[in-house]
Amino acid sequence: MKLSVQLAPKNKRDLLLANPVMTASGTFGYGTEYSHLFDIQRLGAIVCKGTTLKPREGNPQPRLAETASGVLNSIGLQNIGVKAVIKEKAPIWAGWRVPVIVNIVGESVEDYAQLAGELDGAAGISGLEVNIGCPNIKAGGAEFGINPDSAAEVTAAVKASTSLPVLVKLTPNTPDIAEVARAAAGAGADAISLINTLRGMVIDIARRRPLLGNIFGGLSGPAIKPIALYMVYTVAGAVNVPVIGCGGITTSSDALEFIMAGASAIQVGTANFANPRAPLDVLEGIEQFMEKEGIKNIAELIGVGRQ
Ligand SMILES: Cc1cc2nc3c(=O)[nH]c(=O)nc-3n(C[C@H](O)[C@H](O)[C@H](O)COP(=O)(O)O)c2cc1C
Repeated sequence: MKLSVQLAPKNKRDLLLANPVMTASGTFGYGTEYSHLFDIQRLGAIVCKGTTLKPREGNPQPRLAETASGVLNSIGLQNIGVKAVIKEKAPIWAGWRVPVIVNIVGESVEDYAQLAGELDGAAGISGLEVNIGCPNIKAGGAEFGINPDSAAEVTAAVKASTSLPVLVKLTPNTPDIAEVARAAAGAGADAISLINTLRGMVIDIARRRPLLGNIFGGLSGPAIKPIALYMVYTVAGAVNVPVIGCGGITTSSDALEFIMAGASAIQVGTANFANPRAPLDVLEGIEQFMEKEGIKNIAELIGVGRQ
């Protein structure tokens, strides 16, 4: 059975995954936290926590709220910063079979370019995932990813600063996600991943105020799956680079839906909090499905559900 997928076919450094199951940024730490729980080397790829130029403390508590069928988070990109990632984490990853992709976040186009440049030569890093769902501070705080022009600008700046495969991760908080995807692909993205969280909030009626310290948060988990699937289907029809699906994937059936919608790979996020083995369960379920259905190559399933 062939499960391998190529996520950067146009890049000299390519990004060949042994299978299509990845972990979603911010839900699997740096991978090291999970290595005692199961054989993480069996995964297709690990995407680490969003990384900024300087270490960040994140938003005020509380930063997580459970909702019906999902989770609202306002972690605020707490992370150790790019220098520590290169010095402390990349040397560990260099000894791993599973490729690690570093998720990067900036407050300006220059931040993204600098992050990409600093991570370029580090052994142990197989690719970058550019989180464009964060505010462009210089341009008044609107998210880079809501606008095709700023999405293209960030993508081009990152591509100019690295030879690593570049995944651009889209935010659903935009009126026309296919247009943003086309802009990122046109600016050189090797692959497109989607979706990030949907903006939401919870009010604590006893305290008569927003529950999250940051007032608003990002919704993830099963609640967002149909929206994510719709967006993946739409984007897969709009670009000619690989698409990576993410949003509410908890089981192998969920993952297969995204693959049939056109995703070459998928990411498991919030499901990791309830079941840290979730990515492995998803992988084993995909393998069982393929065996049962007599499918020899995962490529036979990619986009098969498209009309
Ligand atoms: C606690 C938490 C932290 C996250 N941190 C990041 C992050 O640092 N960078 C990023 O691009 N996405 C981040 N995400 C978004 C996830 O990677 C994923 O896109 C989203 O949660 C939807 O997938 P899911 O429903 O499977 O969780 C985070 C999500 C959660 C729940």
